[in-house]
Amino acid sequence: HFDQHDSFWLFGYGSLIWKADFPFLERKPAWIDHWSRRFWQGSHDHRGIPSAPGRVVTLISERGARCDGMAYRIEPSLLQQLDMREKNGYLRELVPIHFSPTSSVDGLIYLATPDNDAFLGEAPLARMAEQIAQAQGPSGSNRDYLLNLEQALRELGASDHHVSALASLMSDYK
Ligand code: BEZ
Repeated sequence: HFDQHDSFWLFGYGSLIWKADFPFLERKPAWIDHWSRRFWQGSHDHRGIPSAPGRVVTLISERGARCDGMAYRIEPSLLQQLDMREKNGYLRELVPIHFSPTSSVDGLIYLATPDNDAFLGEAPLARMAEQIAQAQGPSGSNRDYLLNLEQALRELGASDHHVSALASLMSDYK
């Protein structure tokens, strides 16, 4: 049904904040309500390998929470390409994307839930930090993914306690 529109909005909350390797019509800082970003999704193809998976972000539903990110207005024809890129069985959901307190649109998010084979879920913060500090995959080190995310959020003027807590632990690991 997305083909019936000229364009739609996609909300990025992970690597999409700082890296969009697809054409887009427009891009704006945005946020979504009642979702929290968590390093709970395993990555054995980008930021880790099957024997040593990394951790990347997904969203968990949390009443009252807010997740800041970057929204992209894209053409419907891009959807197939994105579905391929976000392989590993990410789900798509339609949610309100806010640009300001008085301006929002319905748009798409991709997320991994516990149903996803690569889902890792919660672990003690220090264990997650250690895993991230050590994992590497074809897309680069898991540490760089975390630190890029932290920097991108800082540039947006956004705060994310989970991300900054993990990033501040990186210096504990070589
Ligand atoms: C994101 O950056 O928002 C994202 C990237 C891959 C999968 C899901 C979300």
